[in-house]
Amino acid sequence: MLDTSSEKHQSFWIDTTPHTNYPAMPGNTSVDVAVLGGGITGLTAAVLLKRLGKTVAVIEARRIAEGVTGHTTAKLTSQHQLVYDTLIEAHGEEKARLYAEANEAAIDRIEAFVNEKNIDCDFRRLPAYVYTESADMVPQLQAEVEAARRVGLPASFVEEAPLPFPVEGAVRFEEQTQFHVRKYLLPLAEEIPGEGSHLFENTRALDVKEGAQCRVQTDRGRVIAKDVIVATHIPFIFKGEFWGKSYPQREYGIAARIEQTVASEGISINAESPTRSVRTASRDGETVLIVVGEAHKTGEDPDTEQRYRNLEEWARERFGVTEFENRWSAQDYYSFDGLPYVGRIGMGSEHVYVATAFAAWGMTNGTAAAMLLSDLITGKENEWASLYDSTRTSPLATKNLYKEGAKQAMHFVKDRFEGVTEDMSDVVPGQGRIVGRPGDQTAVYRDPQGEVHTVSARCTHLGCIVSWNPAETSWDCPCHGSRFSVDGEVLQGPAVHDLEKKL
Ligand code: FES
Repeated sequence: MLDTSSEKHQSFWIDTTPHTNYPAMPGNTSVDVAVLGGGITGLTAAVLLKRLGKTVAVIEARRIAEGVTGHTTAKLTSQHQLVYDTLIEAHGEEKARLYAEANEAAIDRIEAFVNEKNIDCDFRRLPAYVYTESADMVPQLQAEVEAARRVGLPASFVEEAPLPFPVEGAVRFEEQTQFHVRKYLLPLAEEIPGEGSHLFENTRALDVKEGAQCRVQTDRGRVIAKDVIVATHIPFIFKGEFWGKSYPQREYGIAARIEQTVASEGISINAESPTRSVRTASRDGETVLIVVGEAHKTGEDPDTEQRYRNLEEWARERFGVTEFENRWSAQDYYSFDGLPYVGRIGMGSEHVYVATAFAAWGMTNGTAAAMLLSDLITGKENEWASLYDSTRTSPLATKNLYKEGAKQAMHFVKDRFEGVTEDMSDVVPGQGRIVGRPGDQTAVYRDPQGEVHTVSARCTHLGCIVSWNPAETSWDCPCHGSRFSVDGEVLQGPAVHDLEKKL
């Protein structure tokens, strides 16, 4: 058993960069474009729009690049596991080609920023692999190679991957990339404040009213803006109801010191489930292994601790790990037809835009979304608009939407009656449980010192009952993925209001 006592529960990217300290919004503000959310999409859009002459205000509820963006694998690639064969079948070759182009263009956009601003963010071109250890999957990989080539990507089938264990085959893409996401974004964000533009942290957007001038209500005052970008991972405003058109999954990551340099000549991900996404990074000049995987629906796994143990066990068996240094988790949204939603928030909306459901490939999809939104706001044509169309309906999306809607309705009703106890005395230190009567349930957490923290179990978004997440010490909503601290503070939307305190 390896010693994990020095392992930090913090993402590698946050652990290896300084914290930001931008001010909270001091009062009412007026700009051309309000950008809600300080992740890769919001920050990139703000920089692009400011360069095009717009004044912008980025409104971040917590700290920039510390949300989903700060909990990524930080791969920059158009290789999104086995996606092109499926995209061609579901949406046609033209859409699949646009998807490939948008994601490749995002890599080039980031590279251009890096070169132009001389950003030291470990940006590196290298091949990307989707590998399999199962001979049965080889035909699928070969079909993916053919599909990727059809849409213009530099794909080939190879029999080896730069991994310290044998594989049956792999899809290889040339000229893909990895970087350090916060070393990239923090210098880029410095460009935002000034000349009438702002970057505000610790300012939570609560509501958006669209009009000739849009009004964004925050907990620090109001922002008046001609256009608004909602880049809060999942939009929190009701128009568009994007939480009903997508579903959340949680995923886990670890960073470990290793005995040998492995996987340094490429980035890799397996084709099967559970996912193992692998890359290396550098800390103090030494190679660190990063593995991300173990995805599951938010709020539906009572033993999330086991997810970390699975990843650590897998890494230890295959990579000669000497020390685990970091562990973290993230949440991603997936649309039902495999494409993100980027564009106007709904039919009839002219000035409010969204970007969401990047399916865990937000580094490139988020950058492409920022490029598209800056074009839409400045009136420039962009053929990706039809690809990412945020107002679309499709038969595939509709079928899966009904299935997921039924599941959410089941959570809404059934969770009110299940596992309920009146007694909080058997909640042991470090554990959380739902107690109380149906319709009046309390989320109870007893901390390691024995103090009890009690909040309403009713999610402030649409009222589902939250579930305990032991690995992250949080209350997670199984309906649309809102997350709360043990004292009820919103950690992640679509909810914008804290859980009600209970005595
Ligand atoms: Fe929608 Fe909880 S996130 S009800």
